[in-house]
Amino acid sequence: MIFVYSLGGSILAGRDAESLKEYAAALKNLAQEHQIFVVVGGGKIAREYIEKARALGAGEAFCDLLGIGATKLNAMILIAALGKDVAPEPPETYARALESSAGGKIVVLGGMQPGQTTDAVAALLAEYVHADKMIVATSVDGVYSADPEIDPKAKKFDHMTHSDLVRLSMETTLSAGSRSPVDPLAAKIIERSSIPAVVVYGGNVENLKKAAEGGHSGTEIS
Ligand code: UTP
Repeated sequence: MIFVYSLGGSILAGRDAESLKEYAAALKNLAQEHQIFVVVGGGKIAREYIEKARALGAGEAFCDLLGIGATKLNAMILIAALGKDVAPEPPETYARALESSAGGKIVVLGGMQPGQTTDAVAALLAEYVHADKMIVATSVDGVYSADPEIDPKAKKFDHMTHSDLVRLSMETTLSAGSRSPVDPLAAKIIERSSIPAVVVYGGNVENLKKAAEGGHSGTEIS
């Protein structure tokens, strides 16, 4: 099967080498049976740099490009942890990502163009490579009816439809560095191609496998 992961930058950032090796081992294990693509987010460094640039008067597209730089830094760290059997740098295009996967190599990507987040990159890549599933491994353990950090009554969905996800994600903003469960563009892309998706807590490395093969407690979108 072909799986495209959107691995939040907040999940990788701040981990020591040993812990990064655990993520690499989990991905290599999955790659023995499946074709694996991982799109890595920008996390804290992206937010810090974006905030600083914005305070200095930079425009949103400039801030987005800064964010993309941060995603590539994080992608390179994961590539370092994976060692061999991985494409040596984040591809700049979807076609190159597909080419790089030849021979069962894991492909790690960062951001692509301004105006979106790495969830959208993962969704577009999932379309491009005809993925069986897109897996969003992030800092929350599923999709909630409201931000669980702000609203204690927020309810987690075990399952939702693509159109439910589009509606929910549209309620959040598209400004550089914004926090939303899934980028609205990503939601629209997976909706138009009916790509099954899962949102799981990425801080638990076992969820990478469970999201792909079953047994997770996140949100299924189909
Ligand atoms: P992320 O995908 O990390 O966004 O990209 P995020 O919502 O902060 O996700 P987490 O916290 O890592 O899970 C960081 C920033 O980089 C820019 C955007 O500004 C985004 O907010 N970016 C990223 C782009 O402009 N285009 C891309 O393709 C990817």
